[in-house]
Amino acid sequence: MNKLWGGRFQKTPEKWVDEFNASISFDKELVEEDIQGSLAHVEMLKATNIIEEEEADSIQKGLQSLLEKAKNNELSFSVKYEDIHLNIEKLLIDEIGPVGGKLHTGRSRNDQVATDMHLYLRKHVQHILELIQSLQKALIEKAEDHVETILPGYTHLQRAQPISLAHHLLAYVWMLQRDKERFSESLKRINVCPLGSAALAGTTFPIDRQLTAKLLEFDRVYPNSLDAVSDRDFIVEFLSNSSLLMVHLSRFCEELILWCSQEFQFVEMDDTYSTGSSIMPQKKNPDMAELIRGKSGRVFGHLISLLTVLKGLPLAYNKDLQEDKEGMFDTVKTIEGCLEIMTGMIRTLKINKEKMEQSVNEDFSNATELADYLAKKGLPFRKAHEVVGKLVYLCIEKGIYLKDLSMAEFKEANELFDEDVYEVLNPYTAVNKRNSEGGTGFSEVKKQLHLAKSLIY
Ligand code: ARG
Repeated sequence: MNKLWGGRFQKTPEKWVDEFNASISFDKELVEEDIQGSLAHVEMLKATNIIEEEEADSIQKGLQSLLEKAKNNELSFSVKYEDIHLNIEKLLIDEIGPVGGKLHTGRSRNDQVATDMHLYLRKHVQHILELIQSLQKALIEKAEDHVETILPGYTHLQRAQPISLAHHLLAYVWMLQRDKERFSESLKRINVCPLGSAALAGTTFPIDRQLTAKLLEFDRVYPNSLDAVSDRDFIVEFLSNSSLLMVHLSRFCEELILWCSQEFQFVEMDDTYSTGSSIMPQKKNPDMAELIRGKSGRVFGHLISLLTVLKGLPLAYNKDLQEDKEGMFDTVKTIEGCLEIMTGMIRTLKINKEKMEQSVNEDFSNATELADYLAKKGLPFRKAHEVVGKLVYLCIEKGIYLKDLSMAEFKEANELFDEDVYEVLNPYTAVNKRNSEGGTGFSEVKKQLHLAKSLIY
C-alpha cells in the first residue's frame, strides 16, 4: 500500500476511484499557500520543542526548495497522492528523507486546506481591490472630460431627462466603491487562522496557535476547532461579493453594447476591444462587453453551488467541502479578467459627444423642464403636467419638438408662458439647473467628482 494514509487498508482503490477522489488537478493552484502554511507550522513545531531544531531546519530547507521549484513550475504532481497537501508531503519526503514525515505532527489536512483557502483568498481579494480601483480611475478620468457632455437619461429605456455623461459614469464609480467596501470588509473574516484545529478537535501536542497565526500574518485564530475546519462562509461571502460586482459590470456592459449599436451610436469601442464577423465584412462587435455580461452567469452559478454544498452539511469536515475549490478559483480568474478588460475598454472608449447631444435635441426629454417652468410661475404641478402633456401630443401630431412651438401656440396652451421658455427648453440649461444635492447639474457633478477623487486616489 503506497498511500500516505494506507496503513489500515488491505486493498487499494481502483484507478478510476482514485481519480474521482483526487483534487490535485485543481488544488495545485494552492501550492504556494500550502508550502507557506507548512513553513509556519514547522516553525511553530520548532519553537514549542515538539520537533528537534535540526529536524525543523531540514524540513524548512526542503520546503523552501519546493517553493522555489513551485514558482518555476518545476514540480510534478500525481493523482496517486490525491491532493496538493499529500503531494507536497510526498515530494518533501523524497527530497529530505523520512524526517519530512514529521511535518504533519499536530496537524490534519482539514485545518491545512482551510488555511490554504484563507491565504489564497486574502491574496486575491487584495489584488481584486486594486483592480476595482483601477477601473474606478478609468471611469473618473473619462468623467472629468465629460462633465458638460449631455446625453438622454433613461427610465424604462425611454428617454426621460437629459443628464451629464460624467454623472452617468460616476454612478458606476459609486457601485464599485460599495463593491470595494464589501470586499475589504470581508477581509476581516478571511484573515482568521484555522491552523492548529487539526482534524476537528484540536491536538494533544502543545502547539502554539497564536504563533502560527502571527507567522502567517493572520489577525486572529478561530476560537472553535470544529467551526475552523468546516467554515466556508468566507468563500460564500467572496462569491456573493463577486456576484454583485458582476451585476454591476454586466449592467454597464449592457449599456455599452446598446450605446455602440447603430441605433444609438453614442460611443465607439476601440478596435482592440472589438471583433469582426467571419461572414459580414461590415461588422464590429462588442465581444468583450458581451463576454463580461455573459460571464456573470458562471459567477452566480458558483455562489449557488457552494451554498448548496454547505446546506445541511453536518459538522465537522466532510469531503463535500472539496467542492468549494473549482468555483472559487474560477471566480477569481473570471472577475480579475473582467476587471482588467473593462478598465482597458473604458480607457480606450471613444465618446460620440455630437451624437449624444443631437439626441437630446430631438426628443421630449425636456418636457419636465416645461412643467417645472409653469409650476415655478404658480400653476399647481399636476395642472402643469397636463398642459405640457397636451403640448407634447400636439408636437407629435405636427412632427416637431417642444422648442419648435411658436409663442402663440405656447400662449394658447397657457397664459403663463413667455419668451424665456425657449431658454428653459435648452437641454444644456436643463442639466445645468439640476443642482439639488447629488443631481446631474454641472456644479453638483463637479462636487461629486471631487468627492470620488478624494476617496479613491
Ligand atoms: N483535498 C481535500 C479538500 O480539498 C483536503 C482535505 C482532505 N481531508 C480529508 N480528511 N480527507 O477538501
